[in-house]
Amino acid sequence: MPFIRNTWYAAAWSKEITRQMLARTIANEKIVFYRTEAGGVAAIEDRCPHRFVPLHLGRLEGDIVECAYHGLCFDPSGACTLNPHGDGKIPRAARVKSYKVVEKYNVAWLWFGEAELADEGLIADFSIMTDPRFCTVSSYLHVRAGYQLISDNLLDLSHGQYIHPMFKNAEGPPHFEPEKNPSDNEVWARFSRPNQYPNKYFQMLGYPADQRGDHRNFMRWSTPSLLLLDVGMTGVGRPVEEGLSIPTSHLLTPETDLTTHYFWAMSRDFRQDEVALSEELLRVGVAVFDDEDKPVIEAQQIAIDTSELMALNPVLLQTDGPAVRARRIVDAKLQAER
Ligand code: FES
Ligand SMILES: [Fe+2]
Repeated sequence: MPFIRNTWYAAAWSKEITRQMLARTIANEKIVFYRTEAGGVAAIEDRCPHRFVPLHLGRLEGDIVECAYHGLCFDPSGACTLNPHGDGKIPRAARVKSYKVVEKYNVAWLWFGEAELADEGLIADFSIMTDPRFCTVSSYLHVRAGYQLISDNLLDLSHGQYIHPMFKNAEGPPHFEPEKNPSDNEVWARFSRPNQYPNKYFQMLGYPADQRGDHRNFMRWSTPSLLLLDVGMTGVGRPVEEGLSIPTSHLLTPETDLTTHYFWAMSRDFRQDEVALSEELLRVGVAVFDDEDKPVIEAQQIAIDTSELMALNPVLLQTDGPAVRARRIVDAKLQAER
């Protein structure tokens, strides 16, 4: 399966990249990441060109990686800087690929495409994750399913009523509002529950259980598969600024055709200093995403095996509109890159 090249992939949380080498496969490419002495991010192919031993098994000395097997050394540009054998001449083929990485919003973003097109301005806006008015907790999970199945899940939040006891509401599935003016790069999936009692989640966050309110779940999708959920609850008919707001970021990065790196974060603009609430939110996130969404999506992947979902002619419901549009945008970009 091909992946879009000219786009930014979330490769890691910035905090994951340290002086300890991090091996991670992204879009079928094996890469080793590490922090340089100057504090930047190095990302090079995780495979020595000599006998193909993974470079992350070697040693990091300054900014140089020494291969564990016979000691060839590589710098962050992928160039071989030392051949300790024979006359020490460096064979022309002794180099590895290096990747462009930038850090923004506490995420290391990786670019596979043409260097001259690598514009940081193209990274979708996740400034909420570093906004000082919000307190953000973040985590990671690994999913044995293609990234688009997870993006489908996040673009159709009607599933919350069935999979997630915390999000279930006595009044049934949420109201879905089809997009009026769709754009070519972004998809919005707007689900709302006007004038309803809060679900268990909002009760946990402090919304009074006996008070009706307007609950919104507005998901924004950007390429390749970066989603930001504007989720909050406010008094009936009241402006959103008055209520609780807990925007949630979901960054999906294909690892292989059938596995995905799933980075998520919850940012809140209330009770920011409460460490116990931060811990509780992390616990809830794991309970919801790891224990409830993940098994269903992985079972779905097993059921469709390696088939392309749309090629199986799935039944389409009204709430599938955003997921289908996101898939079309990905297909169009792949087509354009061919
Ligand atoms: S495999 Fe890396 S130096 Fe031999
Ligand atoms: Fe879910």
